[in-house]
Amino acid sequence: ALERALRPKRLDEYIGQTKAREQLDIFVGAARKRQEALDHVLLFGPPGLGKTTLSHIIAAELGVRLHQTSGPVLEKPRDLAAILTSLERNDVLFIDEIHRLSPVVEEILYPALEDFQIDIMIGEGPAARSIKLDLQPFTLVGATTRAGMLTNPLRDRFGITTRLEFYTPEELQRIVTRSAGLLNAPIDETGALEIARRSRGTPRIANRLLRRVRDWADVKGDGRISQPTAEAALQMLDVDRAGFDLMDRKLLDALIQRFDGGPVGLDNLAAAIGEASDTIEDVIEPYLIQQGYLHRTPRGRMATLMAYRHLGLAPPSREGELF
Ligand code: ADE
Repeated sequence: ALERALRPKRLDEYIGQTKAREQLDIFVGAARKRQEALDHVLLFGPPGLGKTTLSHIIAAELGVRLHQTSGPVLEKPRDLAAILTSLERNDVLFIDEIHRLSPVVEEILYPALEDFQIDIMIGEGPAARSIKLDLQPFTLVGATTRAGMLTNPLRDRFGITTRLEFYTPEELQRIVTRSAGLLNAPIDETGALEIARRSRGTPRIANRLLRRVRDWADVKGDGRISQPTAEAALQMLDVDRAGFDLMDRKLLDALIQRFDGGPVGLDNLAAAIGEASDTIEDVIEPYLIQQGYLHRTPRGRMATLMAYRHLGLAPPSREGELF
């Protein structure tokens, strides 16, 4: 079964994100009742928390079609114009990585969002002129890892902004249990909780670890997943007790050993561990920050005492704090 097969299809199957679920339930219900297009929705948050899944659910709950694309794929204004003109009444257009739209493409999106109209150029040179084309009303669902990366005019055109949060271990335990059921993998509460605790608050990671633990259980055990099985399998996968993987530990280790715990600028830290700054900012550090291992300060990243302890390193003794 693919990742897709594990995704919930309706809002009532969706676990966690209580706030987002509650709000969307009302706004989607209202649009549906009035037979109108839902206001444009901006989903933001770290990767793997369910932005794509929610966009599919929004379309399903509205009873309309979903058209899916992404910022980098839309190279030319005509790429977006072709999609916009093919939309049917109240359809959902999902644009992933919407912060990566080129400025010229973003430009044609504004009147489309505001007035359901686009300006297209006909002809070339001196004979070129622009004509307005009416579109069907539609809903844009935009997804981005950081809302701060959007231009102000684009951000202002979303009537609904939904921030996705990391999941609690209990929520992930329910997701793992549900996924294991769909995969026909026998698992008990302790096994599901062990996987949940080490999944960095992220369902995509939880489902991936579940598959790997199941492989381990099939080969090294009797196929059943309980706490000791999950623990042994996750240790083999270099996923530690806190759920940190090699990259997380490499980052914390560099921060402490090479930069004395910081503060150090993002680019210097990126160079030290051979990772792209964007990947650190979007993928690696949000969970470390949320869990209290890393601080983002105006002068750069800093390791907290928890980070020293986690790596078994002695925290710095600071002058003036001897008494
Ligand atoms: N699978 C992945 N994310 C999920 C979620 N939020 N609820 C239920 N199943 C999921």
